[in-house]
Amino acid sequence: TGMFTYDPGFLSTAATQSAITYIDGDKGELLYRGYPIEQLALHCDFMETCHLLLYADLPTASQKEQFSKLVTNHTMVNEQMQFFLRGFRRDAHPMAVLTGLVGALSSFYHDSTDINNPQHREISAIRLIAKMPTLVAMAYKYSMGQPYMYPQNRLSYAGNFLHMMFGTPCEPYQVSPVLEHALDRIFILHADHEQNASTSTVRLCGSSGTNPFAAIAAGVACLWGPAHGGANEAALNMLHDIQAQGGVEKIGEFIRQVKDKNSGVKLMGFGHRVYKNYDPRAKLMQETCNQVLAELGLEKDPLFKLAKALEKIALEDDYFVQRKLYPNVDFYSGIVQRAIGIPVKLFTGVFALARTVGWIAQLNEMIGDPEYKIGRPRQLFTGAERRDVPPLDQR
Ligand code: CMC
Repeated sequence: TGMFTYDPGFLSTAATQSAITYIDGDKGELLYRGYPIEQLALHCDFMETCHLLLYADLPTASQKEQFSKLVTNHTMVNEQMQFFLRGFRRDAHPMAVLTGLVGALSSFYHDSTDINNPQHREISAIRLIAKMPTLVAMAYKYSMGQPYMYPQNRLSYAGNFLHMMFGTPCEPYQVSPVLEHALDRIFILHADHEQNASTSTVRLCGSSGTNPFAAIAAGVACLWGPAHGGANEAALNMLHDIQAQGGVEKIGEFIRQVKDKNSGVKLMGFGHRVYKNYDPRAKLMQETCNQVLAELGLEKDPLFKLAKALEKIALEDDYFVQRKLYPNVDFYSGIVQRAIGIPVKLFTGVFALARTVGWIAQLNEMIGDPEYKIGRPRQLFTGAERRDVPPLDQR
């Protein structure tokens, strides 16, 4: 049994080579295909970011137009999806619904199920990126008992999502450029993050040769957990709880609970496996948070104030300093999403929508690698030694 290296949680094992995303955790640096996240957030939109992740470089103006057009050609989903959706309880968690909907896409595209065929992968990539906003918005509308809104291809990727979320047949949604831009930035910041749990899940799932939709559905399922994508929802719920108990004055007491290892309480939106410095995405998210709250006249938003006070106190506390725990992207993204009007339960769905391109880029990279093999971890066996089955009356 000593043949294999034991590395629970992959703390020191590289499961793959990759040329997509680079993180320097000590410096707090994040690069997509070499470009710093700060520059991408400032100069590019999500469609350009998708092109960059999928095709390894930023698009020219005409490539961008072509790519965006291709995506908008696929924004609708098959009408049958509505009937599938109706089987869910209206109060189902949107991530439960989304896991099902994305998995169900595999049943519609029989022309592109072969993950080993580059053309099949390409069209599946476009379909997934195009349809995720539609599915997330459908899950929301269903939970509200409102009619679904068809996508509007004249709108931007983020603008169309806002339209499908908040428009109704009797009142079209007036897309606010500030909110559209903020949402686009959320998408860019969440687009990829190298070999995190959900991405590794997509790779492992795809390595068996399953179809691309099934592999992405596995990623959605993994992202749901509170230690991963579910942290944005958990972070906002945590802020709500502290606020309900008295707000800023209760931070000290809350931090004491977090430091008590028996309490089981964590500071959600803090800490990261790779970043041992400020998560660069959290900085950009905080900036966006300021812009959105100003646009909406919510500068005095008590939750944002609470979040800033909590961050300040935590960053000065020995417990967090010694463990190098800093805010991660999810600390502020919930406040932005909430200000936009996205319900807390849908936060992780928005994350999934944005991460889809990263999952696909990573999946394509793996399948395109001539050395790729089915992912098959080994184990160190700790169970019973060989023994004989006793007859039922002698057990
Ligand atoms: N609050 C309190 N203590 C923490 C926290 C936190 N948020 N994060 C880590 N610690 C402590 C942890 O208890 C441990 O202490 P000790 O050394 O005394 O046992 C030490 O810091 C090291 O943490 P770890 O759990 O061994 O680190 P990890 O790399 O296994 O976990 C993490 C990383 C992100 C799961 C963890 O920091 C966490 O649970 N954070 C809260 C959830 C969260 O915000 N997740 C979002 C991550 S970023 C976006 C995404 O991936 O989706």
